[in-house]
Formats: sequence, C-alpha cells, structure tokens
Amino acid sequence: ARDQDLKGLRVVVSAGPTREYLDPVRFISNPSSGKMGFAVAEDARDRGAAVTLVTGPVTLPDPPGVQVVRIESALDLRDAVVKAARDAQIVVMTAAVADYRAAAAATEKQAKVAGDVTIHLTPNPDILAELGREKGDRVLVGFAMETHAGVERAAGKAARKNADFILLNYPTQAGTAFGGDDNEVTLVRADGSHEAWPRTSKREVARRLLDEAARLLARR
Ligand code: C5P
Repeated sequence: ARDQDLKGLRVVVSAGPTREYLDPVRFISNPSSGKMGFAVAEDARDRGAAVTLVTGPVTLPDPPGVQVVRIESALDLRDAVVKAARDAQIVVMTAAVADYRAAAAATEKQAKVAGDVTIHLTPNPDILAELGREKGDRVLVGFAMETHAGVERAAGKAARKNADFILLNYPTQAGTAFGGDDNEVTLVRADGSHEAWPRTSKREVARRLLDEAARLLARR
C-alpha cells in the first residue's frame, strides 16, 4: 500500500549525536546511535522520496540511495539541515543535538592543571525551532527524550518549536531509545493530544511516522 507513496517528495532527516569540541582532542557528546534517523531515511527512500540524511558521528554505513552528509558539530548540522530543508516537504529531526558548545574551543590541546577547571559553555541554536519559524508548508517532526512529565513537556516543545508532532521516548526502557533496535514512543501534538504506539522496531516506528507526516502533508 505504501509502495512509492512518497515519490516526488524531498525528505530531510537528521540523525546521531553532535560533537562539541573543547580542544582538538576532546569533545562533549552523547550516546545516540543514529539508528532511528537511519531507519526513517531508509523507509522514506524505499517509498520513493529523495532523501538527504544529515548525520553526526555514528558507526552505521551510508544507506545506499540516500544523500548522506556527515557532520560533527551542532553548528555544522544546522547549516546542512537548513540548506537541505529549503526544497523539502518533510523534515524529521532525530539528531540528539548537544544543547551547549564551548564558548571558545581551544585550538591546542589543553594540558592538565592542578585542581578544578571551569569550562565556559554557550547554548547551541535550536535547529528544529529555527525551521519552525520559517515553516512554509513543510511537515516538521521532532523527537524528545524525557525522564518525567513526558507528554506535557513534549507538547510544550511541539508548540514552542512549531513542530507538527514530537515522538516522545524514555531513556530507561531496555532495548529502546539510545542504541537499541526497538523503540517505544508516544506521538504528541502541540495541543497535548497524544497516542502511545506499541513497542516495535525502529523501522516500523519510521514507517508510522512517515504515514502520519504524509497524511498531514496531503491536507495542506
Ligand atoms: O528540546 P529538546 O532537545 O528535547 O528537543 C528535541 C528535538 O529538538 C529533537 O527533534 C532535536 O533534534 C531537536 N533539537 C534541535 N536543536 C537543538 C536541540 C534539539 O533541532 N539545539
């Protein structure tokens, strides 16, 4: 039924972590595997979309038939996603973007000093929110990981970032979210309406996500 249903559409997906370098050999990052975003890119490709996948450092190989852009920092992710999103109809932000970067990354390796050190961090731009401010007719999808008050917080994020919906997950479920092959998510809209999806493979989550995005797009 879904065979080639996204033909003629451009889909942009971000995936993986970002790295925020403190000096040439040290960075702040997180354990995002990239699996969720790669699954979205592969499903969109198989349904006929032209897909750009912007990914931070992950061990996954480039999916065939997908335009892959490898980046490291949040600022580089922003440049690549904003550029690719210009002529896209669906943008899915699965990337675990670091919230902060070094205010001034050292150009030389920092030597160890006696006692405590202080690192001055500055906030990264919120890429999804930026896309939300110039949304056009695009469908914008985000992900959120919460440890508590998930639906409320995810609805707040969808509203603030002007995303059509957010897929909420929790870091605590074994075999899901960070690194796992499965995911258990709740779709949350800005108005607080939500539906919990059963635990399933990331590929099946990708399929349902794109079903919903395609439905919303068809109404525009
Ligand atoms: O606010 P929070 O980081 O929980 O929001 C998660 C969603 O926002 C994800 O879709 C993530 O890719 C996106 N995001 C972003 N830029 C940031 C932080 C998060 O696009 N700086």
